[in-house]
Amino acid sequence: MSFPYQIKTLEQYRQVYQQSVSDPEGFWAEIAAQFTWKKPWDKVLEWNFKEPNVKWFIGGKLNITENCLDRHLAENANQPAIIWESNDPSEHHRVLSYKQLHAKVCQFAWVLKNNGVKNGDRICLYMGMIPELAIAVLACARIGAVHSVIFGGFSAQSIADRLQDAQAEYIITCDGAFRGAKDIPLKSVIDDALVTCPFVKRVIVYTRTRTPVSMIKGRDLWWEDEINKVETMGNPDFPAEMMDAEDPLFILYTSGSTGKPKGVVHSSAGYMIYTNYSFVNVFQYQKGDVHFCTADIGWITGHSYIVYGPLSAGATSLMFEGVPTFPDAGRFWNIVQKYKVNILYTAPTAIRSLMVFGTEFPANYDLSSLKVLGTVGEPINEEAWHWYDEFIGHKKCPIVDTWWQTETGGILISNLAGVTPAKPAHATLPLPGVQPILVDENGKEVEGNGVSGNLCIRFPWPSIIRTTYGDHERCRTTYFSTYENLYFTGDGALRDEEGFYRITGRVDDVLNVSGHRIGTAEVENAINMHHGVVESAVVGYPHEIKGQGIYAYVIYNGNLEDQDLARKDITATVSRIIGPIAKPDKIQFVGGLPKTRSGKIMRRILRKIAEGELQSLGDTTTLLDPAVVEEIKTSRL
Ligand code: WTA
Repeated sequence: MSFPYQIKTLEQYRQVYQQSVSDPEGFWAEIAAQFTWKKPWDKVLEWNFKEPNVKWFIGGKLNITENCLDRHLAENANQPAIIWESNDPSEHHRVLSYKQLHAKVCQFAWVLKNNGVKNGDRICLYMGMIPELAIAVLACARIGAVHSVIFGGFSAQSIADRLQDAQAEYIITCDGAFRGAKDIPLKSVIDDALVTCPFVKRVIVYTRTRTPVSMIKGRDLWWEDEINKVETMGNPDFPAEMMDAEDPLFILYTSGSTGKPKGVVHSSAGYMIYTNYSFVNVFQYQKGDVHFCTADIGWITGHSYIVYGPLSAGATSLMFEGVPTFPDAGRFWNIVQKYKVNILYTAPTAIRSLMVFGTEFPANYDLSSLKVLGTVGEPINEEAWHWYDEFIGHKKCPIVDTWWQTETGGILISNLAGVTPAKPAHATLPLPGVQPILVDENGKEVEGNGVSGNLCIRFPWPSIIRTTYGDHERCRTTYFSTYENLYFTGDGALRDEEGFYRITGRVDDVLNVSGHRIGTAEVENAINMHHGVVESAVVGYPHEIKGQGIYAYVIYNGNLEDQDLARKDITATVSRIIGPIAKPDKIQFVGGLPKTRSGKIMRRILRKIAEGELQSLGDTTTLLDPAVVEEIKTSRL
């Protein structure tokens, strides 16, 4: 594959960016023409942000898996598509060439078909980081089913909520998953979820951990048995379903500031084109490069930069089952050395957690294959940026600080490795086709440089969110109604003197804990389920490794003789309702919460107390009972 659209110089970036703004349709049409279509599009773009209604490549027909697999077979059939490294360093790694991956995807697409899956059906995937997860994702896309991957850290209740919302009748899971020293009983969690989801017809289970599982007759099937059936059919090729450019490719649930997580829906063609374009340009991928994205496929980063972006570009994508600190803090560096990784893409929280162990770990490995480093998921602090630059990149690798969201599908603001300038802790410049704008509280544009505001985007890019599953109105109110004719990101940003963007963090009630988005309302709802809890308020506070920690203020009418036990009970409740990723770091028992006369909790005050800024609480005179603030201050954790 060649990439005529790969930008090579700063000057070219400026010129291409200009073109992408003055003629977005012509710009994207030229890139889209590089892909494999079953039928060309009739019209490039139709859009308004009012409803919203965004459609790219209208009338075009394609299948994303032909672009990720089939089209590489003529020239690159034997090139590794996926390299898989086990959680256990002594277990042999696996390599799947494009030819082998194609064959396995076809095989599993037959399994789905044999079990009655049709174009448009929703399939939920709850698996560990094994090649079969990528295979299952691609098999869904091949048959035209809409996949919804759920991260292994979510509870049965969270899974049930998602299954019900998506009305997913099929589940693909594993007996269990290995993660560091733990093994997570995935199938058993699914069994608990299914108690309230009788509409689920089939559960296909892959054997990974040999954890005992209960297989229900008529509903549960072993992956391996189903594959055997396809083998007896002679492993026929699976013709890729013809999909419309705008057909949904997947649903991915993400947290917002209110209520339950929403199902972000991405399209087929626009998503494919944008993930490919951003992958090739941001990381400056060169043929033969080994790309190691450390994310889990349960998050958008894994979807876009382990599976679809790299594979659509014919790259070698490294998948890692484990965690950065198991069996020791040298694990990433060991993998880089072992596979001569060229591009490493990870999260600031992972960097910070490894910094704690010192520089001996990276110093013990040969990291000379690295060409490009990337970060994603949260603002990176300068200290972590410099550590990454010095001890991992040896000051020879550009660092790309990539800002984007589940809703944006791909990277929107980032430097292009070695092509446009990097600046510590700055995402810097928008990618071509992306038109950021800063606005003040009233939606008025903040112009010029050296300014800050709420970050919005004023023109659609191909992988913009299409809807929130089953509730289009929620999509409109969350992203398109705050400011007229703008997509609102929920993030605040600075634009410095040079015009570079620095993302400062969420301006809504969404926390970013270890790069994972968690809604404060969601955590409060979970805490309030505990029978001793009267009311709670959750805020974020700066956490050295996680970026943000979860601080919960709880009014409790149960027995508080043993506060630690009460805390453990509440934590267990949150784990059960949402999952271990949402466990509060601190729980402070309080007699009351600071409320306005109209009964609204003053989170600003609670945030300040959690941050330890006790002197600058601002105006508390509008509070119903200012005395509670004093009490909260004195019993602060
Ligand atoms: C934050 C992850 C600063 C941001 C791809 C955004 C970042 C949220 C960066 C989306 C970055 C992501 N610098 N902040 N480079 N990248 N964020 O949906 O607050 O899991 O809104 O997508 O992460 O998180 P999500």
